[in-house]
Amino acid sequence: MTNPRDSLYADPLSEHGLFAFDDSVARVFPDMIKRSVPGYSTIVSMTGVLAGKYAMAGSALYDLGCSLGASTLAMRQHIQQPDCRIISVDNSTAMLERCQSIIDSDTYKTPVTLTCADVQDVVIMNASVVVLNFTLQFIPRELRDRVINGIYDGLLPGGVMVLSEKVTFEDPHLDELNIELHHQFKRANGYSELEVARKRSALETILLPETLNRHRQRIANAGFSSCDVWFQCFNFASLIALK
Ligand SMILES: C[S@@+](CC[C@H](N)C(=O)[O-])C[C@H]1O[C@@H](n2cnc3c(N)ncnc32)[C@H](O)[C@@H]1O
Repeated sequence: MTNPRDSLYADPLSEHGLFAFDDSVARVFPDMIKRSVPGYSTIVSMTGVLAGKYAMAGSALYDLGCSLGASTLAMRQHIQQPDCRIISVDNSTAMLERCQSIIDSDTYKTPVTLTCADVQDVVIMNASVVVLNFTLQFIPRELRDRVINGIYDGLLPGGVMVLSEKVTFEDPHLDELNIELHHQFKRANGYSELEVARKRSALETILLPETLNRHRQRIANAGFSSCDVWFQCFNFASLIALK
């Protein structure tokens, strides 16, 4: 299947409101995220490797904010343990409709259930692996503790959470530098100056990044026994947290 190119913010005459995970975004999403998030492909494929290592027989693996199911498929490919199931959650019906047909054409055997719900309302149970790849950043900051606490409660001892996020830096110079490097990455991937600027303003009140220290603190407060960054490129990072 070919992936249509993202040119949503290219037309100088079209008006853009706030960013939303609607059908126009879902249609170009694989191209958009690959050209916008440094390290995305590595994070997704290593999420699969981590799931293969931490999946426990008879347990559930969650992909929260699954979009088109890239992390779901990476996990599914690596699970070796018997009687696992994957529960993939998103609150965008446009994403889930496309995700379902992608999952249907995949041949790996672990059952996948797609659930249309707000991540905040999902009760995590009997989980060995919970993945939030670039999803927590879209949840209001004051509601994030509850989401992470719920994940901790639903994980089995020895289970793992993978949390990937856009991040900010305490040091204003480093913050500015990483934003600039990210924009250079996007321009090198064919986005114009105008597209970068428009997307930035469309996301400004929707995608709310935090510092890595804030994430670490929240994860420790929830009770996780250890946590660290396993991947970072500029202002995009992925953490692993163990129960
Ligand atoms: C950047 S995408 C995630 C990418 C995906 N995890 C991957 O690896 O390809 C963020 C996704 O989270 C979903 N999302 C945002 N807020 C959500 C919420 N409160 N509950 C459920 N899904 C949410 C969006 O619809 C979108 O599909």
